[in-house]
Amino acid sequence: MKRQIRMDELVRRIRPAVRDRRPYLVGLPEATTVKLNQNESPYDLPPEIKEEVLREFARIPFNRYPDEFSERLVRTFAAYAGCDPDQVIAGNGSNDLAGLLALALIERGTPVVLPRPMFSLYAKLALLHDGDLLEVPCRENFRFDTDALVEAAKERRPSLIVLATPNNPTGLAMTLDEIAAVADASEGFVVVDEAYLEFSDEGSALRLMDERPNLILLRTFSKACGLAGLRLGFLIAHPDVLRELRKARMPFMIDPLASAAAHILLTAYPDVIEERARRIRQDCVAITDVLSAMEGVEVVPSQANFVLFRTPQDAAELKGRFLREGVLVRSMSGYPELQGFLRVNAGTEVENKAFMTALKSALSV
Ligand SMILES: Cc1ncc(COP(=O)(O)O)c(C=O)c1O
Repeated sequence: MKRQIRMDELVRRIRPAVRDRRPYLVGLPEATTVKLNQNESPYDLPPEIKEEVLREFARIPFNRYPDEFSERLVRTFAAYAGCDPDQVIAGNGSNDLAGLLALALIERGTPVVLPRPMFSLYAKLALLHDGDLLEVPCRENFRFDTDALVEAAKERRPSLIVLATPNNPTGLAMTLDEIAAVADASEGFVVVDEAYLEFSDEGSALRLMDERPNLILLRTFSKACGLAGLRLGFLIAHPDVLRELRKARMPFMIDPLASAAAHILLTAYPDVIEERARRIRQDCVAITDVLSAMEGVEVVPSQANFVLFRTPQDAAELKGRFLREGVLVRSMSGYPELQGFLRVNAGTEVENKAFMTALKSALSV
């Protein structure tokens, strides 16, 4: 007779570190027309570039595996970032590569140090892998506390520290000197998530890597490059480190459509990326200026494609008012230190106007 499996017993075989987490869900209310809640680029690829990508995609045999680690794309990424191909792993979005780092670096009890508040995925990954997580609070102005991070690096000797700069959800950037100080104090790896690099005045930490082989950089195509829907990112590490990380890497992770799009965009149209990043940056400054001029509104000076702000109104209610005007922004109240704050990313001209109009009407009630 077939044995009955009890579901509760079956589910208990899933590691507690997994069962204790929540799935990452942003959700999209149906009535939204102006979507400014996920720090995406508001600009899709121009139709003529899309056509070119689709023509290349149509030539790819669907019945064959692509090459294991997307070598052509790795070379394209390396040329874009200014490093050697033997320093690069391509990923299905940079989140995928953060997952690879967690798999390679964190096991039960591995010390991990993260500043707060930061992109929540890293704490989740540390806990999923049963790491021993220490979160270092920010300073009063939401800047990462570099001295405290240096101290934690020396005392805890973590295998992994992650710095997101410019940071999400604050938009604040660290200087290269601050990153260098943390890397110099650490015997383990210091990962610098540069998702918003193209919008920032600070350069890439790539130039610090020659002297600091413990630095690993993460880059994404979801923000300035406008390819969030295709899922692409890359990791830059010392070749000796990269050789080891590749052993933990699943093969065939890059979709050939995404690969074709990134290759064509980066090699034939880098000016499109630059021009759009510049425009988004200017729009963010304009949004910051409008918010700063409003009475009682606190604004964090952003170097990314979004702005974090707080008004005297309750954040959930204000978000609801925006939503009734079809404008979707993100409440940051899930972070204890960001109670009452909302985050809005720069959109198209029309979207930015819709945000401003909704803001003015919401605050005048
Ligand atoms: C700091 C940071 N890193 C990474 C990501 C996600 O990147 P990807 O789309 O490449 O997985 C985000 C997305 O919001 C982010 O804010």
